[in-house]
Amino acid sequence: MMMKPTLLTTLAATTATATELLLPLYQYPADNGGAWQPIEDALTANPSLTAKIIINPNNGPGEGPSQGINDPQYEAGGKLLAAHANAQLLGYVHTSTDGGATRCTVPWADVEADIRTWATWVDAGVAMRGIFIDEAPNNSVNPECEAYMQNLTTLIRTDAELVEKFGPQPVVVFNPGGTGQLQPYYEMEPDYIVALETCFTVPEHAGGDYDQCPATGVYEIYDHDGPGSSIDNVLFPSVGEANAARTAVLVHGFHHFNGPTANLTATEAVLEELVGAVVQRGIGATFFNTRGYHAFEDEPATIGVVADVLNAANAA
Ligand SMILES: *[C@@H]1O[C@H](CO)[C@@H](O)[C@H](O)[C@H]1NC(C)=O
Ligand SMILES: *[C@@H]1O[C@H](CO)[C@@H](O)[C@H](O)[C@H]1NC(C)=O
Ligand SMILES: *[C@@H]1O[C@H](CO)[C@@H](O)[C@H](O)[C@H]1NC(C)=O
Repeated sequence: MMMKPTLLTTLAATTATATELLLPLYQYPADNGGAWQPIEDALTANPSLTAKIIINPNNGPGEGPSQGINDPQYEAGGKLLAAHANAQLLGYVHTSTDGGATRCTVPWADVEADIRTWATWVDAGVAMRGIFIDEAPNNSVNPECEAYMQNLTTLIRTDAELVEKFGPQPVVVFNPGGTGQLQPYYEMEPDYIVALETCFTVPEHAGGDYDQCPATGVYEIYDHDGPGSSIDNVLFPSVGEANAARTAVLVHGFHHFNGPTANLTATEAVLEELVGAVVQRGIGATFFNTRGYHAFEDEPATIGVVADVLNAANAA
């Protein structure tokens, strides 16, 4: 039988996988998870959209009977979200002792303990599928950090107890929070690396409404040269287009405008253009939000609208 490599290549090129939602959920699940109802509604309304949802009580799972994941409200909220077939829950851990100024500085024993604490949530009835590693290193010149991240990835993916709890091939996401020398980290084959995480709005409107945009204004104003421009001009030149499917793009502070060049205004129509540009470029996962990671109902980029827009872009 004759091989037909040309045909296979064509098929592979046209079967692009959909862009997932990667939702950093740093909001408290008040009212026994009722606060997360808009997220549940967005998942229900878009059954073909898959979402990875990062649960972050306290820069990690938290401690004690009424803190973090041991809080009954967290448990109730976690169960509600995990019940959605199109959602996978990831536990947040961080790896910097100084808010990201230095990386891979949390002692190995501490980060391992946090990961194992997340696995205990499975026993409490909350299906967890993996781990989101925040403040991940962005600089491959540091071999210690490479070893640390490789160790973490191997632990999460192959430790017998963790695999039993999280399920086969547990999910691993690295968040260096920006571009950098990331190729060695891509070679560890995490599900995603968040290699572009930034704000849409201009600095003079940043920070005021808990949008997590730095008031100092030192950030890549998302798509300030037009839809897709931050990916084309900042992300791809750094991490390479070949890594698109393993890359996540997170955009918060979607309000006001992104002047002075393209000066797009934060409207639902513009959101459609920006999300469409992310999907067209084969980015693996994305998230847009009007504010930061603690509030998801502010217009125009409510969680419901963002889920609808991403789902539509995937189908287009
Ligand atoms: C990685 O794991 C190996 C083997 O368990 C250990 O010897 C080494 O110290 C770890 N390195 C880091 C940076 O955590
Ligand atoms: C990595 O992040 C740090 C802290 O945010 C930053 O100062 C540094 O420039 C980044 N390194 C690279 C290679 O981008
Ligand atoms: C950008 O557009 C907004 C209206 O959406 C306007 O108020 C602002 O002056 C414009 N800025 C620039 C630099 O053009």
